[in-house]
Amino acid sequence: MPLEKLVITGGVPLKGVVRISGSKNACLPILAATLLTPELCVIRNVPDLADVRTMCALLKWLGVQVRHDRPGCVIETRAEKPVGVAPYDLVRKMRASVCLLGPLLARLHNCKVSMPGGCVIGNRPIDQHIKGLTRLGANVEVESGYVHAHCDELVGTDVFMGGRFGSTVLGTANVLMAAVLAKGTTIIESAACEPEIEDLAVFLNKMGAKIRGAGSPTLEIEGVKELHGADHVVIADRIEAGTFMVAAALTGGNIEIQGACAAHLGAVRDKLEEAGATVQRNNGTIRVTGGSLHKPLELTTMPYPGFPTDMQAQMCALMSITPGISVVTEKIYPNRFMHLSEMARLGADVALESNTAIIKGVNHLSGAPVMASDLRASAGLVLAGLAAEGETDIKRIYHLDRGYEHIDTKLRELGASVERLEDDDNNG
Ligand code: EPU
Repeated sequence: MPLEKLVITGGVPLKGVVRISGSKNACLPILAATLLTPELCVIRNVPDLADVRTMCALLKWLGVQVRHDRPGCVIETRAEKPVGVAPYDLVRKMRASVCLLGPLLARLHNCKVSMPGGCVIGNRPIDQHIKGLTRLGANVEVESGYVHAHCDELVGTDVFMGGRFGSTVLGTANVLMAAVLAKGTTIIESAACEPEIEDLAVFLNKMGAKIRGAGSPTLEIEGVKELHGADHVVIADRIEAGTFMVAAALTGGNIEIQGACAAHLGAVRDKLEEAGATVQRNNGTIRVTGGSLHKPLELTTMPYPGFPTDMQAQMCALMSITPGISVVTEKIYPNRFMHLSEMARLGADVALESNTAIIKGVNHLSGAPVMASDLRASAGLVLAGLAAEGETDIKRIYHLDRGYEHIDTKLRELGASVERLEDDDNNG
């Protein structure tokens, strides 16, 4: 397939209504969890994204019947006789494939999932996943590029999931999905509290699991013998919603965001208000009005409910045109700053000291060709392009398409000048 780029002519205040899609990061482990039962599962509000297509391809490879009904965003799965090997060719496309490990191990007691490998946002080890599954009684070896997990049975116990950078989201998902079919009770301490984990637990409970404490750092799971099919509506994507909130703030626009859960966006709302934007919650919608951005920010990324690392690049775009000196410390992925050098091409005044970015707000950005390096970096560049004067070409937007459903269409509906074009520059 030819590479595509986005061409954005910035400077338009975005106005109107945008509807938020289902959450990518909730949907991926939930799709993996359908491996836990031979019965029909129906997953609704599934976003149309490259990562979801990769997860469906993986499930099909594993022998799951997958029916994808695009207009209704519904995926039906039936995992009657799954096989236990997830190959490198598919796994390498998406790091989230690692969350097949827990459900495959629980269902088959023997599985091999390719090691997900490195990632441009930094080192992403899976030691905590392995530690957790081992605590439940699995033997886990890494050999020939595969994680091989096997056991006679899984037995509930206490598992601590906190690591150097806080708890692990997909690690918690993996241990949770293994523990639901383990013998006895598992207590996960320092579990990830992200809404996506809570949504996974809600889905698992619909399947017949017995999980208490979802959304808190302590999960109590009483293992059951088997799970049944379930029907579930995936929560809204809080990162997509946050990205549109920043879009309103940094273009001086006025956007009503529909379908998002405001309670999941407290940290983003707080920082936008501090910078000078107005955020109102009315009857299930969030309205963000740009006004004048007048205050620089100090921002540190943290596990939920702290400020999400997945919103850091977007906030860097905002800070680049907010007067004063802003400071951003990245505590989840210390090297997740690939967007800064591209933002500098648009005129942003940025410096990096270890895991801290220092951003001096400039009067204006000016459009230039830039290169997307990863999903959220791309979103940051789109936002910077929307604020910049003139034309910004963003190359390699396949990164963006991994996580934002129809972003160019949604932006156009808000008045932005955004075109998706084939990129005939083979070096781009
Ligand atoms: N970590 C370890 N050992 C482990 C696992 C994680 O040291 O075994 C470290 C990581 O290197 C990182 C920190 O712990 O420093 C947190 O990583 P976590 O495991 O929580 O990340 P993840 O579960 O692999 C999910 C999201 C990411 C999001 C992070 C943090 C999905 C599919 N991915 O990744 O989303 O940034 O949580 O919130 O849910 C994105 O959507 O763009 C994205 C990267």
